[in-house]
Amino acid sequence: MSENSFDLVIIGSGPGGYVAAIRGAQLGLKTALIEKSKTLGGTCLNVGCIPSKALLHSSEMFHFVGHGAAAHGIDLTNLSISIEQLMAKKDKTVDQLCGGIQHLMKANKIKVFNGLGILEGDSKVRVRATGEDTVLNGKHIIIATGSASIELPFLKYDGETVVSSTEAIAFEQVPKQLAVVGAGAIGLELGSVWARLGAEVNVIEFLPVIAPTFDKDVSKMAERLFKKQGLNFHLKTKVTGIKKSKGKQILTAEKAGKVIEFEVDKVLVAVGRKPFTDGLGLDAAGVTTDDKGRILVDAHYQTSATGVYAIGDVIPGPMLAHKAEEEAVACVECIAGQAGHVNYDVIPNVIYTDPEIASVGLGDSDAKAQGYETKVGKFNFAGNGRAIATDATDGFAKVIADKKTDRILGVQLIGKGASELIASTVAHMEYGGSAEDLARTVHAHPTVSEAIKEAALAVDGNALHSA
Ligand code: NAI
Repeated sequence: MSENSFDLVIIGSGPGGYVAAIRGAQLGLKTALIEKSKTLGGTCLNVGCIPSKALLHSSEMFHFVGHGAAAHGIDLTNLSISIEQLMAKKDKTVDQLCGGIQHLMKANKIKVFNGLGILEGDSKVRVRATGEDTVLNGKHIIIATGSASIELPFLKYDGETVVSSTEAIAFEQVPKQLAVVGAGAIGLELGSVWARLGAEVNVIEFLPVIAPTFDKDVSKMAERLFKKQGLNFHLKTKVTGIKKSKGKQILTAEKAGKVIEFEVDKVLVAVGRKPFTDGLGLDAAGVTTDDKGRILVDAHYQTSATGVYAIGDVIPGPMLAHKAEEEAVACVECIAGQAGHVNYDVIPNVIYTDPEIASVGLGDSDAKAQGYETKVGKFNFAGNGRAIATDATDGFAKVIADKKTDRILGVQLIGKGASELIASTVAHMEYGGSAEDLARTVHAHPTVSEAIKEAALAVDGNALHSA
């Protein structure tokens, strides 16, 4: 095999691409990874999941010392925060993880090419870099180029006032007045960060609820708790544009026919993401997409072009890093002749606010819409000893089971630590567990996880610690 010929060429080094590269190397495939940015790790690591979690952590601590510490007898006067230091801490986290991926590529003998990957058909991928292009030959090619923020035509990004999450994780100072368009994962997480740091935050959402992919009772509790933290919500409200008036930036919106105006110094647009395939040469390679620009694949992630595969945010399905990682492993295993598979019914979904919101499987309303008769068990964290001892009583666990079979159809959580708590319920569902299985599983005492066991017991009216 010549120097630039590979069994596997992967375009994009996010959680989909770099994981596919590692799995390829593990299965003995000569593997190349192409990345157009200077660092590996894609959106998730560089400007998405990881830096936002670093900011959420820092801002949560700041908020706690300012608002919660006194109740513990902790006296902190003259509290201040350096945004420069906070950003440096976030950048250090990102650098450490980018270096870690670089190290993993080296350890797995994966050849990394820096440049824009362009499909040329006939198993060829051009790497366009400053200086000379390199043309690679790939027996199998995986597209893992991810996604980009959706732009609203009447509210174009200018990188200064109207920004996407990429800029909103790197503001140099706390905006006085931040408007957030969209109350989904990004809007709620970054809205929380800047509200905790002192910004006046107005969240404008088209729908009547925030976090609309969760059950209504979860969304309602989230709205109530986030309001207490200072987030202002404007629901059923449509943003119409931005204008300058008397030297001030004014965001305009409409609610029930009435015009509303928000004075702003920053506007974060977080209304979803779209597949990123710019300059990739999909047409030349014969790769077809749907009307949303998503690459169409079969059950083995094979596109319409033989030998070309696609995974992660560029194909249909939830745009989540862990979904991309699972698809990466399954896709490469299929290429290697194994039986790769992803269970799409059991993909957890988390919003990392305080409290966190997490779900897996179907919500009660989705389950009913799909024709299931459901039994629902709910348990409030206020009835849990550990939650009381650690000021974590805001929240509940909810288990949704099939009335006929008792099989768990879904779990919804809102509360501190929900992102970690959801994992055990994912495992129960992966093995086809019933509500009774979960209810009879021993949970350590005192832990907040007991609230999940209680919710499972509540499915048949047997919760022990609820009156
Ligand atoms: P999203 O799809 O989660 O939420 C967008 C929200 O914007 C929705 O509530 C929608 O109703 C609203 N919206 C749409 N158009 C609007 C308009 N013109 N005016 C007002 N509201 C409007 O999208 P988001 O938050 O931008 O996230 C993008 C993707 O990244 C999602 O797939 C999300 O799951 C993923 N992500 C996941 C995270 C996590 O797992 N914690 C964190 C960040 C992003």
